Amino acid sequence: MTLEAIRYHNGTLEILDQLLLPLETKYIPILGVEDGWKAINKMQVRGAPAIAIVGCLSLAVEISKEEFEKKKTLRREVEGKLNYLISARPTAVNLKIAADELMNLVNALDRDDSVSATEMQARFISEIERMLEKDIADNKAIGEAGCNLILNSLLSTNGGEISVRVLTHCNTGSLATASYGTALGVIRALHSSRRLEHVYCTETRPYNQGARLTAFELVHDKIPATLICDSAVSALMKSKSIAAVIVGADRVAGNGDTANKIGTYQIAVTARYHSIPFYVAAPFTSIDFSIVNGENIQIEERPDREMTHIGKYRIAAPGINCWNPAFDVTPAELITAIITEKGVFKPSELRTMEPS
Ligand code: MRU
Repeated sequence: MTLEAIRYHNGTLEILDQLLLPLETKYIPILGVEDGWKAINKMQVRGAPAIAIVGCLSLAVEISKEEFEKKKTLRREVEGKLNYLISARPTAVNLKIAADELMNLVNALDRDDSVSATEMQARFISEIERMLEKDIADNKAIGEAGCNLILNSLLSTNGGEISVRVLTHCNTGSLATASYGTALGVIRALHSSRRLEHVYCTETRPYNQGARLTAFELVHDKIPATLICDSAVSALMKSKSIAAVIVGADRVAGNGDTANKIGTYQIAVTARYHSIPFYVAAPFTSIDFSIVNGENIQIEERPDREMTHIGKYRIAAPGINCWNPAFDVTPAELITAIITEKGVFKPSELRTMEPS
């Protein structure tokens, strides 16, 4: 059985409710943009690529139920609803970039007199449907590029047969994407090529994406894995000969500074101290060339309750103040390379590149 976070077929959308995992596997219907916004905001679906896909598909579902006499009406509705969807969670850039691309398409179709309103509607919907396929293909390419990178860099120092132990943080797998995953895609590729000795995944407090979701995927795929507390990272690096850290990204700035799940930054600092390569694996659409550095990335702060409770159980002393940023920014200088479907780049190389 393949793990599917997103099920879409002919205008019908369902998502796996990730708030219930790993105890319950339940799909919930997304009937339109309002449902999409809520599911993203409440984190029933999460992970930068999955947020973008579910956001856009929720709009496709809504638009497919309507009839448009005028192209202008369709264009206005698409623009307003995409802006609304982007507001559900601010840090990941993938939905914003997908929305910009969709608006370019809609504007071009609006200007083209040979295109009717009905045709514009159909082309808009099929462009969104294409995103699912593209994301899977991109993730496979990221997986292969990351696997080759890690193995080649070790072959040059070790030579001969190698198998590696790696560390990952948060959830970047099938549950965070259309399928396969980014950082977890690299780990899947290492495993398929029989080069993965072991993967360690952090719990990823406070929402526990590692313990609940990554561990779920690793057990599901029978990949040799061990869960560690977030606070065990330095001890792990000191004692277990970790070949690489591989994480995902919510937004990479033009200089390579990378926003990812809270805790990523301290793992990168620790990796540098232990001379362990630190890789970011992400689709090219996670790179936001419009911002110069990480200081311009808006960091989402989540409700205290995610820290004070696990499910319905309170675990923190009543009355305590909380600070709950969902992401942090790892400075480019701590990142060995950024692995994308378009190639592997040193952070400094991004400065010379153009968005495509
Ligand atoms: O708050 P989340 O669970 O949406 O955060 C997810 C992450 O930080 C992931 O590492 C990132 O989105 C990449 S997912 C392929």
